[in-house]
Amino acid sequence: MAVNDNSNLVVWLDGKLVKWNDAKVPILTHSLQYGSGIFEGMRAYDTPKGAAIFRLQDHVKRFLRSAKIYAMPLKFDQKQIEDAIVKTVKANKLKSCYIRPFAFYDDQQIGLRTTGKKTSVFVAALPFGAYFGKGRDTGIKCKTSTWHRINSSILPPGAKVSGNYINSIMAKIEAEASGADEAILCSVEGYVAEGSGENIFLVQDNRLLTPPKDADILLGITRDSIIKIAENLGYAVEERNIHKEELYTADEVFFTGTAAEVTPIVSIDGRHIGNGKPGPITRMFAEKYSDVVNGRNEEFSGWLTYA
Ligand SMILES: Cc1ncc(COP(=O)(O)O)c(C=O)c1O
Repeated sequence: MAVNDNSNLVVWLDGKLVKWNDAKVPILTHSLQYGSGIFEGMRAYDTPKGAAIFRLQDHVKRFLRSAKIYAMPLKFDQKQIEDAIVKTVKANKLKSCYIRPFAFYDDQQIGLRTTGKKTSVFVAALPFGAYFGKGRDTGIKCKTSTWHRINSSILPPGAKVSGNYINSIMAKIEAEASGADEAILCSVEGYVAEGSGENIFLVQDNRLLTPPKDADILLGITRDSIIKIAENLGYAVEERNIHKEELYTADEVFFTGTAAEVTPIVSIDGRHIGNGKPGPITRMFAEKYSDVVNGRNEEFSGWLTYA
């Protein structure tokens, strides 16, 4: 299969499986024009017991919460969306994949009004490797952004709504233009928030530090998983506001996210983090996370839903 050729796949669209190339929307679709779609991103992994979707219920819960925040009426409930996701993974016979549920206003109009408008939901599942390629193992370079992270007085960062991601995209464009792999955004108050699509952790004196839930971040499901795995291993985890300079002096820094998984950060704003190589604690968490998602860990096996 050529890169990006998904024509052999099917998409779940409003209750039916349709061919990938037949799942189309009109050009004036409200959510296409105005960024009013809401979405999730999750992965399924190839485990000894078959394809397993990681933390399916939690992702669907967040999807429904995003819809609630934006007063978007959905025709499907938690169970129906979970079933749709399992069905899509199964129908495509994908052992491991990225899964993108998406809800959107599917009327065609110029006006902004959403009240009383019809919505649609699709679920796409497609093969997807490491988001940062080799960087997942060798570590990536980051740049702190001149763009601040949105906050709840502007747009709720805790909702996965398409429009929010313009903020992330601006930061990513800037980071890549400066030769970095990814951006780190700070809040308007100047505290470290997160990456363009990842949460961030610091390792300092064998403890984990991460920005708290009210630091203008998306509450990542991978973030929550790492916190639970860390606590299970006896690591202290502190959720507190972090100043930018603490990034530079941390022993280790890493990103977490469905796409990024656990990705070491080896340089920030041209400064080496630690000795400029992925640190041992980051590596250990990357390995533990990989064991959990790939079905090699009994303690957290409840996070897997088999498709
Ligand atoms: C802005 C942002 N922060 C953090 C994350 C990580 O969240 P999760 O671990 O749930 O994928 C994501 C990815 O969804 C994101 O888009």
